[in-house]
Amino acid sequence: MKREKIIKIGDFETIIKFTEREQCFTREDPGKSLLVFDENTVEVFKGSIRDDKERETITLPAGEKHKNLGSVEAILKKALHSGMSRDDVFYGAGGGVVCDIAAFAASLYMRGTDCILVPTSLLAMVDASIGGKTGIDYEGYKNMVGTFFPAKEIRLCIGVLDSLPENEYLSGLAEVIKHALLGDERLLGLLEKERDKVMCRDPETVQAIVSSSVELKGNVVGVDFREEGDRAFLNFGHTFGHALESSVGFSRY
Ligand code: GLY
Repeated sequence: MKREKIIKIGDFETIIKFTEREQCFTREDPGKSLLVFDENTVEVFKGSIRDDKERETITLPAGEKHKNLGSVEAILKKALHSGMSRDDVFYGAGGGVVCDIAAFAASLYMRGTDCILVPTSLLAMVDASIGGKTGIDYEGYKNMVGTFFPAKEIRLCIGVLDSLPENEYLSGLAEVIKHALLGDERLLGLLEKERDKVMCRDPETVQAIVSSSVELKGNVVGVDFREEGDRAFLNFGHTFGHALESSVGFSRY
């Protein structure tokens, strides 16, 4: 299994890397970085981020109900007051909510600043971080305001899934099953054959299912980035799920 993949969207390339916790926020070139966490994910990386005066951090309140303009504005203010330029980098480290918000803010700041995503949930690894959909909920509607803005890099650290609550893990697994059903018979076979290893989060097996999922989604968004055709198949189950979430004000499900 390759440790690195590339998703091509027109001329743009997103590099997908399997990596260790300590390497999730490293930057080779000089420049400022703004790390966006939420209250939970900041704990996941405690002790594994080096102190660096070029690195700023913002920690958002956790949860879907904070996927709003207020969070985006907080990130933009932090970037501006830290003197960030378009050559600097926003990192979004978290589940789907943080990845969507951080990438949305990156797409707006100075008309587009590089974004690196470090998804910390299985769902964000296989779905939310891949393919450049960014955004927030608005006026009670899910993902109503946003942009198409692919990340420059996506860093996948399988080890962070160890502390993911079981219901969150299962919800990500549903996306993996979705991808298998949509077009990867080998993945479906692996899920069936290695069910126990999948359920106990065996790192090698989890990396294999994440890798296949990312491959499938990458192939779809590579040919239909703006969801004018086949990408809509990736919403299999989402339309119903989003309606359910909206119906209770994003507070219960
Ligand atoms: N989550 C569905 C998509 O990215 O198109």
